[in-house]
Amino acid sequence: MSTDRSTLTPIERERTSVFHSWMAQSTLNPLMVKSAQGVYVTDEDDKVYLDFSSQLVNTNIGHQHPVVVKAIKDQADLLCTIAPQHGNKARYRAAELILDHSFDGAAKVFFTNGGTESVEHAIRMARLYTGRQKVLATYRSYHGGTSTSINLTGDPRRWPNDNGTSGVVHFFGPFLYRTVFNATTEQEECERALASLENTIQFEGPSAFAAIILETIPGTAGIMPPPPGYLKGVREICDRYGIVYIADEVMCGFGRTGEWFAYQNYDVKPDLVTFAKGVNSGYVPLGGVVLNEAISASFNDRVYPGGLTYSGHPLACAAAVAAIEVMENEHIIENAKRIGDDVLRPGLEELAAKHKVIGQVRGLGVFFALELVSDRETKEPLAPYGGSSPAISEVLAACRNEGLLIFNNFHRLHVVPPCNITESDDHEGLTRIDRFLTGVGRYYVAC
Ligand SMILES: Cc1ncc(COP(=O)(O)O)c(C=O)c1O
Repeated sequence: MSTDRSTLTPIERERTSVFHSWMAQSTLNPLMVKSAQGVYVTDEDDKVYLDFSSQLVNTNIGHQHPVVVKAIKDQADLLCTIAPQHGNKARYRAAELILDHSFDGAAKVFFTNGGTESVEHAIRMARLYTGRQKVLATYRSYHGGTSTSINLTGDPRRWPNDNGTSGVVHFFGPFLYRTVFNATTEQEECERALASLENTIQFEGPSAFAAIILETIPGTAGIMPPPPGYLKGVREICDRYGIVYIADEVMCGFGRTGEWFAYQNYDVKPDLVTFAKGVNSGYVPLGGVVLNEAISASFNDRVYPGGLTYSGHPLACAAAVAAIEVMENEHIIENAKRIGDDVLRPGLEELAAKHKVIGQVRGLGVFFALELVSDRETKEPLAPYGGSSPAISEVLAACRNEGLLIFNNFHRLHVVPPCNITESDDHEGLTRIDRFLTGVGRYYVAC
């Protein structure tokens, strides 16, 4: 039945017809976006925002890059879609480019439509390869919204989706700022986190585990770069117990940390790598799994029991080819590293020196988190784990008022602009953060 919607505003039409992710629907109050260009987003009222969130940390080359937009249009003129059993140039070129930037021995790419499907398939591959069922994942993690991925996820979004039968065992990774190991140095934290992981494996059954999945640098859970030696230690544990090491690079891959993949910062070689987001900056949905030789070869003579109608969709793959070539030609990975080292880290540390409400600054490349606390001694977060608070609501309102889009999770702000952001746009964003944090200083109890 058709309804007369002519008297409704755009936001009313969105609210009455679209069911949104991860929220009680009556609380919906979205920014109504009309258009975007580079690092700027324009809303329905023509207000312009500086995008320090890269949307959901995925527009690594910014919005509307003309080369990628043209590649999508050209591919649409040639061939919009093709069944997965056929071959296609856009698909094999995207796979080749991804492999060229991957670890030594990376053999093949399985394409999906996004991050969570990549995680589902990586776990399925590991289970079939090892003949085992249990999987290890950290409490401080997000791995996606579908059944296996949400059960791997550590954050509270898992709780209503967890019926206790997923075969996932959670453990604590290293995080010195909020250590659960009573550590006082990064080295202690690293050693104790590794010892605890190995104990968990031994008490759960050393031959029970198919895989361990780790965000190389946990993203949504707080951008916590692992201490030196931790990932190498995980690799050794995996080798000792025959466990497949899956690096979830959905958020931290494709330039975000100043390397093509975040694991390249740590000189470690995973067995499977999940990716999505930055592979084509989300211009068309795409994700995938990079497989090592051994796991790939294990499906040479037996059927891989999994597939997708849109595996390797030509529009998505053409966007990936163009996005990766743009990243190469415009030295975007190098830019992310330089901006992190020369502008973001010093700029954010300067803000922390000025605003006591910033308890810690951490990250690298264009991937930084600010811990907002009401007391630096106790590290009391400005919002509880899994929740929000009037203080955080005020921070976010002030941020929006300033015309800045930023990523927020619980008491944290994540400063995650596109990898090709300029120094002057970066300085502008830091100036806006400085202004809105000045307004919330009163929530710092010890001032
Ligand atoms: C590390 C990680 N894995 C998986 C996912 C799920 O990706 P998607 O939302 O594309 O399904 C996300 C999404 O943010 C992520 O950050």
